Amino acid sequence: MKVLVVGGGGREHTLVWKIAQSSLVEKIYCAPGNPGIAELAECVHIDADEIDTLLEFALAEKIDLTVVGPEVPLTMGIVDTFQNAGLEVFGPNKAAAQIEGSKRFSKDLMARYNIPTAAYRSFSDHAQAVNYVREQGAPIVVKADGLAAGKGVIVAMTEEQAIAAIDDIMLDQVFGDAGASVVIEEFMGGEEASFFAFTDGKNILPLASSQDHKRVYDNDEGPNTGGMGAYSPAPVVTDDLYRVIVDTIVRPTIDGMAEDGCPYSGILYVGLMIKDGKPRVVEYNARFGDPEAQPLLMRMKSDIVPVLQACARGELQQDCIEWYDKAAVCVVLASGGYPAAYEKNLPISGLDEAAKIGDLMVFHAGTALKDGQIVNKGGRVLGVTGLGDTVRDAIDKAYTGVKVVSWKNAHYRHDIGARALNR
Ligand code: AMP
Ligand code: GLY
Repeated sequence: MKVLVVGGGGREHTLVWKIAQSSLVEKIYCAPGNPGIAELAECVHIDADEIDTLLEFALAEKIDLTVVGPEVPLTMGIVDTFQNAGLEVFGPNKAAAQIEGSKRFSKDLMARYNIPTAAYRSFSDHAQAVNYVREQGAPIVVKADGLAAGKGVIVAMTEEQAIAAIDDIMLDQVFGDAGASVVIEEFMGGEEASFFAFTDGKNILPLASSQDHKRVYDNDEGPNTGGMGAYSPAPVVTDDLYRVIVDTIVRPTIDGMAEDGCPYSGILYVGLMIKDGKPRVVEYNARFGDPEAQPLLMRMKSDIVPVLQACARGELQQDCIEWYDKAAVCVVLASGGYPAAYEKNLPISGLDEAAKIGDLMVFHAGTALKDGQIVNKGGRVLGVTGLGDTVRDAIDKAYTGVKVVSWKNAHYRHDIGARALNR
C-alpha cells in the first residue's frame, strides 16, 4: 500500500521510520517532509496546511492511507476533506480536533463528564477576566482559548503577571483571534506526564507511558518550549495509576465525545499533572506528542500500520500493543537562542558518524538541505533517541549520539531522563 504522512518535523520523521518497517507498505510519501525523512520516503513540496493540494496529490497517487502529524491541518478539517473524497485518513475530524483547538471546548467537556482537571472560568470580557484574577489571587494560569503555537499559556506567579497576560491576549491580541476569549484556571502543582491512546471513536488502545521536558534549560528552568526531550516508560505512571488514567480520563473523554455527537478518532494526547498519586488533565492534544513520539515509537514492537488503519476505519479491535522491554530517551538538539530568535543555516556535522551507532536514531525536525549540506532551519533541530535495557542505559546511549553531532551554538539539556532515575 501507499502511505502519505503529512508534516515535516521530528514526530513525522519518527512516524515515517516506524511505518517504513511495516511489511504492508510499498511506498511512503511525506508532505513536506525534511532531509532526514527523505532517506525513507519521497518528500513532496506541499505544506501541511495546503489541504486542497494535499487532496489532489493523494487522489492522483491513489494513496491508501494518510497519516496527519500536526494539529493545524487537523483543526482546519483535513480529515473531513479527505473522508468526503473517499480516502482513508488517520486523525480526528474538525469537530473532534476542537479538543486541542479550543481550550474552552475541552474544559467544558471535562466539566460535563467529571474528568479531573483544574477549576476554571472562561471569559470573553476583559474586565470580568481581570476581576476574576483579583478574586482568585496568584499563582494562577491564563490561557488564550485558541491555538497559539504552544505559547498561549501563561503560568502567572503574581496577580500582576496574570493581568499583564490578559492584557496581552485580549487587548493587544498578541495571539490574534486565538485570544478572543481566555480560560483562567487554578494552578496545579505536581509532576507532568504525557499519556497517549489510539482510538477509533469507541475502542481505545493505550500506549506506554512517557514524559517530556518542557523548559529550555536544565532543572526545568527558563521558558516553555515544544519539548526539549522525552523518555518512555515514565516511572511516575505506576501500573495502578495507568489504570486510573484510562478509567477516569481516557475512557470518559472518548465516551463523552461520542455522546456529544463528535466522536474522536486518531491518537488522543492527554497532558497530565500528577500530585499525591492522582492525575488531572492539563490539556488535550489531537495528535502525537513531539518529542514523545520518538521514544514511544522506538519502543513499539507491533506494526503500527494496522493500528492506524483500524482507527481510520472505526474498526479498532486490537486490545494491546507489544513493546520492546527497553527504555528509550530522546534528547532534542535545538538552535542556540530557541525558543526566542536564533541563527539559521548553520552546517551540522557528525550525522554520518551518529548513524553508525546501534540502538540510536537521529530524527530530523528543523533541518534543511543547503548546497548539499544539512543545516539548521527550525528551533528544535534534531531528536537524538537512544534505546537501552534501563533508563540509565538509554540516557547514556542518547548522549553518546549527542556528543558526535554538532553545529555552532547548538543547545541541549543535560538532564533528560534524570527525573526517571530519581524515582
Ligand atoms: P498547555 O499548552 O495547556 O500544555 O500548557 C503548557 C504548560 O503550562 C503545561 O505543560 C504546564 O507546564 C503548564 N500549565 C498549564 N496549565 C497549568 C495549570 N493549570 N497549572 C499548572 N501548570 C499549568
Ligand atoms: N511535547 C509536547 C507537545 O507535543 O505538545
